[in-house]
Amino acid sequence: MKLVKHLANLGYGSRKDVQWMFREGRVTDAAGEVLYADDPLDHDNMRVDGEPLDLAPGVLLMLNKPAGHTCSMKDRGRIVFDLLPPRFRLRNPPLSTVGRLDRDTSGLLLLTDDGQLLHRIISPKSKLPKVYLATLAQDLRGDEAAVFASGTLLLESETTPLLPAELEVLDARRARLTLHEGRYHQVRRMFAAVGNHVDALHRERVGGLTLGDLPEGQWRALGEEDRVRLFAPA
Ligand code: URA
Repeated sequence: MKLVKHLANLGYGSRKDVQWMFREGRVTDAAGEVLYADDPLDHDNMRVDGEPLDLAPGVLLMLNKPAGHTCSMKDRGRIVFDLLPPRFRLRNPPLSTVGRLDRDTSGLLLLTDDGQLLHRIISPKSKLPKVYLATLAQDLRGDEAAVFASGTLLLESETTPLLPAELEVLDARRARLTLHEGRYHQVRRMFAAVGNHVDALHRERVGGLTLGDLPEGQWRALGEEDRVRLFAPA
């Protein structure tokens, strides 16, 4: 029954549905030989209706999130899972976003079904930098980089000051901000603390990973090299 459980966990259907798929001969090996539920598990060699299986458990995905999608499963509006194959919502262990981006934030979002990996990425111990491009409603005053780098900035209703963050001013209303922690609405609240407002926010980088040429709304699975790059920021 290993194969039945495997396919059910990948979201191909309930165990009952999957048992029927075997009975109907829809599950084969790469050569087209019908597989039986008690055959040994060989993920890469399995086919359903002639198609290779979805990614094996232990996935890490990168999504170029468009603004307008939330990271919540429960939201009634557009959600990031709408941008992935529908079966991905039915996986067990479930696929979760690694932290969250606001509805109106675009850019690099990671998703994984590996709880340990997720914790390693978001853990303060990993100190993974996150780089945001912010477009502001008002001209920068000039002191923002010093305020953000100070290590003493206290956000409203918080008791622990923010870790030092680096601000690179690109022009009067655009700046690149590098954070080493992830607090709720952090970038928007930081700019609010210096009397500004973020009109648009885009995450460019997490650790050593950037979106590269991944188009908006598209995703890709990350391999071993990407994982090394993630934890080894330049
Ligand atoms: N900071 C924010 O304010 N919003 C995000 O989506 C991410 C970081």
